[in-house]
Amino acid sequence: MGPVLGIETSCDETASAVLDASGQVLAEAVLSQEAEHAPYGGVVPEIAARAHLAVLPEQVRRVMARAGMGFAELGGVAASGGPGLIGGLIVGSQFAKGIAIAHGVPYVAVNHLEAHALTARLPGLVPGGADFPYLLLLLSGGHCQCVAVEGVGRHVRLGSTMDDAVGEAFDKIGKLLGLGWPGGPALERLAAGGDARRFAFPRPLLRREGCDFSFSGLKTAVAQEIARHGAGALPAQLAADIAASFQCAVAEVLADRAANAMAMMRRRMPDTRLLVVAGGVAANATVRAALSETAEAADVALVAPPPRLCTDNAVMVAWAAIERLRLGLADRLDFSPRPRWPLSELAASAGAG
Ligand code: KG4
Ligand code: ZN
Repeated sequence: MGPVLGIETSCDETASAVLDASGQVLAEAVLSQEAEHAPYGGVVPEIAARAHLAVLPEQVRRVMARAGMGFAELGGVAASGGPGLIGGLIVGSQFAKGIAIAHGVPYVAVNHLEAHALTARLPGLVPGGADFPYLLLLLSGGHCQCVAVEGVGRHVRLGSTMDDAVGEAFDKIGKLLGLGWPGGPALERLAAGGDARRFAFPRPLLRREGCDFSFSGLKTAVAQEIARHGAGALPAQLAADIAASFQCAVAEVLADRAANAMAMMRRRMPDTRLLVVAGGVAANATVRAALSETAEAADVALVAPPPRLCTDNAVMVAWAAIERLRLGLADRLDFSPRPRWPLSELAASAGAG
């Protein structure tokens, strides 16, 4: 199989990557639209779609040139087909289909969640490669779930959030602390100088059964604490202590939920040896440290891909397509992008192309 071009436009990153069939990255590019959305305090779908449209063609041209490839040499072209914002999904999907039609290469509509899920199988991340099955914790701005990854197209959601995604909680608290958007990375920097034990914020669902998540109670408690200090900027140390205490509560909850998820996974698949954490929040060092304790206690290895592979990127899209193409799972050109596309509906979606 020739190299595969992957395209990611499901949210606010425009990304393209070319990987050879073994998974080596030949060239990649990621352009964040953070600056475009920051004034609005969140992603504006229409702005996102227009920005993807404006930059994608030239980005793909440059990535292909750096990879030293012509389109006709590709073994496949893939784009995130969902879940995500429909405008961006249409831009990426139509672009990929255009290349597929013009050059006669197979097209793959990649499920963005599966792309995060399969990232751990990229060569070089786990010694000897991450074999199925493993437990995935997907912790991003839009998603917060525990998934049993049992094979390509075979994923079982064990638990998920009942309200906000964990990244969303970071973003909302970041906003209340005046940190701009997205709040996660800035909140982590602020928390570095804070006292995590100063505020005993609630730990929703801690020590409860199952591996669902909830962040609304924690968020409200933090918001009330901030409001108690009146309008205007908080004193720097107070803000840092709130940030650190919030981050500590989140990390504890995530570790607790991950431990339960691992026990559930073991009941399904006793030979599970791996806990993989993905999504933007996996870049958080406190979260990673808490999860690594959980993994150690459960006697499994923790794999947290490097941050650039945890946040949205096209390497994971191309890689998921390579895994699918190896199994003969190309998609039809009449695939319609899906704003909602749960992992449970995946196997049936991969038809012969
Ligand atoms: O996976 P991602 O890039 O995009 C999707 O949501 O799909 O995740 C972005 C989310 C944002 O909510 C951002 O605030 C959060 O991940 N995030 C972090 C950190 N870096 C990114 N949250 C906490 N600590 C971080 N260092
Ligand atoms: Zn994502």
